[in-house]
Amino acid sequence: MGYRLACELSHQTKTTFEFLSSIFYLPFKPMNKFFITTPIYYVNDVPHIGHAYTTILADVLTRFHRAAGDEVFFITGVDEHGQKVLQAAQKRGVFPQQHCDELAPRFENLWKKLNIGNDDFIRTTEARHTKVVQTVLQQIYDKKDGDIYVDEYEGWYSVAEERFITETEMASGQFRDVKQIKERNYFFKMSRYQKKLIEYIESHSEFIQPLHRANEILGFLKQPLGDLCISRPKSRMSWGIELPFDKEYVTYVWFDALVNYISVPGYSVDQKKFDKWWPADLHLIGKDILTTHSVYWTTMLFSLGLELPKTIFAHGWWLTGDTKMSKSLGNVINPMDFIEKYGVDAVRYFLMREMVLGADANFTEDAFIKRYNSDLANDFGNLLNRVSGLLGKNHGGLVPTPGAMTPAEEEIVLFGRGLSVNVHGLVAALKIHEAIDETLNLVRLVNKYLESQAPWKLAKTDLPSASRVLYVAAEALRLSAALLKPVMPSKTQTVLDILGAGNSGLTWGELKPGTKLQTHEALFPRIEVEKK
Ligand code: ME8
Ligand code: MG
Repeated sequence: MGYRLACELSHQTKTTFEFLSSIFYLPFKPMNKFFITTPIYYVNDVPHIGHAYTTILADVLTRFHRAAGDEVFFITGVDEHGQKVLQAAQKRGVFPQQHCDELAPRFENLWKKLNIGNDDFIRTTEARHTKVVQTVLQQIYDKKDGDIYVDEYEGWYSVAEERFITETEMASGQFRDVKQIKERNYFFKMSRYQKKLIEYIESHSEFIQPLHRANEILGFLKQPLGDLCISRPKSRMSWGIELPFDKEYVTYVWFDALVNYISVPGYSVDQKKFDKWWPADLHLIGKDILTTHSVYWTTMLFSLGLELPKTIFAHGWWLTGDTKMSKSLGNVINPMDFIEKYGVDAVRYFLMREMVLGADANFTEDAFIKRYNSDLANDFGNLLNRVSGLLGKNHGGLVPTPGAMTPAEEEIVLFGRGLSVNVHGLVAALKIHEAIDETLNLVRLVNKYLESQAPWKLAKTDLPSASRVLYVAAEALRLSAALLKPVMPSKTQTVLDILGAGNSGLTWGELKPGTKLQTHEALFPRIEVEKK
């Protein structure tokens, strides 16, 4: 990912920028394309905080990339076929299509509430998707050396996992809802690509991330890889896309869902669009679906002769207590409750700041309130209050003129000058929580600086010095708001507008002296917890 500070380009020449990037060791690249995807979620129930997390993460990355000048294609959607969805519909006593039509908007609407700027939203029952799935199946079926064959199979089938499991998996006792099934089915010759996949993973360190997940898959691939059953007889399960070469069968839900990553950018329909975007730069997923993505999907792509996505990144789970939050377990946190109580931006902030990408994290209201009060109310919100309060009181509500730098300011200015590059570097390395914390470090540094410089005292004896201090503080506030904008698009825009810097960029010193500040309410009012 070639991050660069495109915002600086607007008022600096390319040559200056190239010069700057050489100082910061930034590779200068012309406009990059960035194609990012989330899983498409099952509509067996309404979305919960886990789905919101992956989608917000994709949105935050999208916004960082756009701020760096990349052209981004960000897609998400819902997975509407298969047994889980069928069962959910049956439980409600409605036809599966009606069930999907009612559930899909719940996801789309939540994404709107959460300020998700996706470019497309796919439902797998849409014709634009089902047609491509059938094309893909036919192409693989028609291959000279035949990657699809028919066979009779008897084995353990996990309803929860929607797949046949091996004897070893059965013996592990980890699978719920297991039964013996004997069936004639179509199989995809996944085993044929085992060696190729191992070699690919070993020679592409960026392919499966974090690295320990790549090792996990390599470990899994030490066992002989079986073939993949890709059909379901309609007599047992009819809710799916019909196989183009056998009307008695529908497509296995994963062989259908994974294809969304190429059906949306126009595979076999809009070659120009497809060539522009494929391969995906980043498939963001949770670790629960690592195998389907790094084994099923990649071997399907091998068979089709398509390039593999550049990176599959598997993040950890949001837990409640020690267990995974999941629809099947019924211990989920409804994002709407938190949005209504604390606001969209605070929810986005908490999710992005609290989870170390790759590890699990715990979602509790206590942790939420603690994080909100310390970072948003005390650090960021407080800086805004101080800056606007002091400027209003002693400086006519105007952004003051910067003065000559003292050593105390130098530390801050130096930090501020390097911050954009640092933050974007951390984002490129997918260390979102660190990128946020780095910005908050500036905020905390400036809050301390205000305490030591006490511009409220200086204003009485030495007004120019008070101005000098407050310019630095106001500019630090502006820059931190600009750098937190991908995470909290709405609240940070409010801050920038208050400072009259609504369209400013990511370079230190863009705040214009003499600008009149807007009045405002508390940005993040402290959450008072009742003492029991
Ligand atoms: O697996 N913590 O859909 P799904 C973090 N349809 N993320 C979580 C989570 C949690 N507790 N729970 C869910 C499917 N997620 C398939 C995908 S893709 C071609 C088909 C997020 O509704 C996380 O991204 O079970 C996880 O991988 C995804 O939701 C699973 O959603
Ligand atoms: Mg799931």
